[in-house]
Amino acid sequence: PFVSGQLTRLLTDIAIAAKIVNHQVNRAGLAGILGGTDRVNVQDEQQQKLDVFADRTFLRMLSAGKSVAGIGSEEREEFVLCGNEGRNGKYVVLIDPLDGSSNIDVNVSIGTIFSIHRRTTPLGEPLVDHDFLQPGSHQVAAGYILYGSSTMLVYTTGTGVNGFTLDPAVGEFFLSHPSMSFPERGATYSINDALLARATAPTQTFIAGCREASEPPFRARYIGSLVSDFHRNLIHGGIYLYPSLEGKPEGKLRLLYECAPLAFIAEQAGGLAEDDTGRILDRVPTNLHERVPFYVGSRHLMHALNAC
Ligand code: AHG
Ligand code: MN
Ligand code: MN
Repeated sequence: PFVSGQLTRLLTDIAIAAKIVNHQVNRAGLAGILGGTDRVNVQDEQQQKLDVFADRTFLRMLSAGKSVAGIGSEEREEFVLCGNEGRNGKYVVLIDPLDGSSNIDVNVSIGTIFSIHRRTTPLGEPLVDHDFLQPGSHQVAAGYILYGSSTMLVYTTGTGVNGFTLDPAVGEFFLSHPSMSFPERGATYSINDALLARATAPTQTFIAGCREASEPPFRARYIGSLVSDFHRNLIHGGIYLYPSLEGKPEGKLRLLYECAPLAFIAEQAGGLAEDDTGRILDRVPTNLHERVPFYVGSRHLMHALNAC
C-alpha cells in the first residue's frame, strides 16, 4: 500500500552498487585491493580494503538517490544522514557492505547483506536513533548479494523470496530462482567447530545429535561467510548456528546488519530464525551494532534444536 516507486528505485540502486562491488571483487587480485588497511572498525576488526570499497560504494549510491534518508553500516560507528540531513527520503537502510571479510584474500565467496525500513519520524524532520532501531518485523525489504561462482541477488519484500543471477555478458540480474524456500528435508549443519566447547548446552547437544544421526546422515559445511553458508542451506536445507559463547554470551553476529535481514528472508522462505530466547524479528535493538546469538534455517532442524 505504501509503494510509490521509491522502493523499486532503491532496490535498483542496490543492484547497481552490487555490480560495481562485484567487478572489484572479481579483479581483486589484479587491482591491488587485497589485504588489510591500517584501520580498525567500530567492531574492533581490522578493515580490509574491500570492506572500505564496498562501504563507500553502497553509501555513495544510496545517498545519491532520493529515497534513502539514512544509512547504518557495519563499518561506521554512527549512522549517516543522506540529503538535507535525512529529512527527505522515506527509507532507512542498514547494511553489512562486505560479509565474510576473512575470505577476501583467499578467493572464497563473500557477500553483502541489506535491510530496509520505513522511517518512523515524519518526512521533513531529521532522523533520530529510533528510525534505525526498529525490530526486524518492521522491515519493508531485505536481501543479500552473493559474490560466488556466479553473482546473485536474493531478496524479499514480504511476499516470498526471489533470487536473481547476474549475467556478466549483459550486466543485468535475471530471475533465476523464483519463490525460493527451504526444502522439506535438509541435513546440513553449519557451525564454527572450534567454538563448540564454549557454546551453550543445547547447541552442544544438538550438534552431537547431528553427528550421531544416520537417517539421514548429516553433512557439516562451514564456509565462514554468513551469506554463503545461509544461501547453501536455503538451497539444500540446513541450519546455521553462531551460538552464545562462554565469555561472549552475545555471540558475534550483528542484529541489524546480518541477523534481522537474513531472519526476514528465512521466514519468507518457510524457515525460522531465533536467538536464545525467541524470534529474531521480534527483538527490539538498543544499539546500532548490537550482537546476538543466531540460529537460522530449515524449520524441522530449528525445532530439533529447540527440543535440546
Ligand atoms: P564480517 O566479515 O561482516 O565481519 O562477518 C563475518 C562473520 C560471518 O560472515 C561469518 O559467518 C562469521 O563472521 C565467521 O566467524 P568465525 O570466524 O568466528 O567463525
Ligand atoms: Mn558480516
Ligand atoms: Mn562486513
